[in-house]
Amino acid sequence: MDITVETRSPAETAADLLALPLFELDPARWRLPRPLAALDQAAGGRIAQALAAGDFRGKRGESLLVHPAASVRAKRILLIGLGAEASLGADVAREVAASTVREAQQRSAARVALFAPASRRLKAGALAQALAEGAGLGAYRFDRYRTKGKKKDETRVAAYVLLFEGADARAARAGAATGALVARWQNLARDLSNEPPNQLPPAALAREAVRVGREAGVRVRVLEPAELRRKGFGALLAVGQGSANEPRVIVLEHGAAPKVGRQKAGAKGARRPTLCLVGKGVCFDSGGLSLKPSASMVRMKHDMSGGAAVIGAVCAAAELRLPLHVVGIVGAVENMPSGTAYRPDDIVTSLSGQTVEISNTDAEGRLVLADALHYAKSEFAPAAIVDLATLTGACSVALGKWAAAILGNHERLAEHMLAAGEATGERYWRLPLWDVHREFMKGSVGDLKQTGGRDGGTITAAAFLSHFVGDTPWIHLDIAPVADTEKGSASQPPGATGFGVRSLVELLRGFGAVKL
Ligand code: BES
Ligand code: MN
Ligand code: ZN
Repeated sequence: MDITVETRSPAETAADLLALPLFELDPARWRLPRPLAALDQAAGGRIAQALAAGDFRGKRGESLLVHPAASVRAKRILLIGLGAEASLGADVAREVAASTVREAQQRSAARVALFAPASRRLKAGALAQALAEGAGLGAYRFDRYRTKGKKKDETRVAAYVLLFEGADARAARAGAATGALVARWQNLARDLSNEPPNQLPPAALAREAVRVGREAGVRVRVLEPAELRRKGFGALLAVGQGSANEPRVIVLEHGAAPKVGRQKAGAKGARRPTLCLVGKGVCFDSGGLSLKPSASMVRMKHDMSGGAAVIGAVCAAAELRLPLHVVGIVGAVENMPSGTAYRPDDIVTSLSGQTVEISNTDAEGRLVLADALHYAKSEFAPAAIVDLATLTGACSVALGKWAAAILGNHERLAEHMLAAGEATGERYWRLPLWDVHREFMKGSVGDLKQTGGRDGGTITAAAFLSHFVGDTPWIHLDIAPVADTEKGSASQPPGATGFGVRSLVELLRGFGAVKL
């Protein structure tokens, strides 16, 4: 889908579907915004008729299709309710754009235009970004394995034009370009997460990362099993040892400083801060010997969603040419039961040298992250580390399916993440992580306990992780509640959400100005 910004008047815009988002109207004294009044005149007053008849009130979620007279160049006009003007946020704009795309697909309308509503609350740049994101996200579907019944919804929207006032065009163009790009990489994260586990074991996930990294201009290296063994990724390898599909660690790099020697004094790349994004990439989580019950095992293909978001975010950062050194590290493993699987009571030696007493092989994510976090810290000496993981079911017990949790060792970094989430409509909520929790995770036979029991499960998991980051500023995002969804919306079909891509990109975009 090609998303562009134009300044043409709606009446002169050729389209199969022209969407007109309207704020809630006072039924007694409604008036169309000026450019739309002209459009309606050309349309033979059909819009005014519909409004006068009370068929459309502009309520959020409301829509009405109108067929204009021939002097309008759009075949159909779709009125969409925005609700009260004071409540127009990026999330509303995203859904409106997404439902426009959905409607267009259903009606085989390949060329779509949307008249951007002038608003005091959302400036042109932010509005265009949200509209472009919504269009990109709304067009998403995961149907590559459907061999039948695809015909009906096969039409894809080819062109999506956002109509802005001339004065706003510049800001809108930049916003729309960012929005389209971010949606594309969020959709990539959705694709990776939706991919079934027989199609995407660790080696295949690594191959995909290499492929998309090449597209985005990201350098991708894959640590193969032999190298992981040589280096001593003992915790991650323990998780993977029960599976015939061996683990990989995927390292994606954007904006690395030029190699020493060729680097000129004061070269631009030299002062760029390094930020590591670490993702849990459990391609399938059966629980291992601590086997999950059947019903809990379904959807565990999504257990690599943190890794998928990391891949998407690093690629987005590269395409946005962000002036940062961003390193993505994804621990890709499959957690399976077998004669070679790791066991409860095993002691494993992590990459950091710390030993861990295994108590539940289903608490595999923290082991994968332990080695990936230590690798991030020791290999890249980053200014900060952010990890994303579908780590604990307890996180959904605490927050429901509506938010991801932020924990960590650094107050300001956590606050920046919270703000990035708010700006992008990805909900986060903070949970505490104190020394009492860290102390609680110390072991008796080994250095660390793997699990901390039922109480505060999300916190004790994070407390375990904290032992592998030292004093590097670090936050952990437990995205278990939000990585996939059953319900969905216009911008979100059921399945993988690609959660994290938008807020991570937002964090990265602001990171240059962040003082840690
Ligand atoms: N991948 C799961 C967490 C999860 C559960 C994500 C449900 C999404 C939906 C994780 O590996 C896991 O199994 N965690 C255990 C930890 C426990 C054994 C300490 C859990 O949450 O039960
Ligand atoms: Mn598990
Ligand atoms: Zn898991």
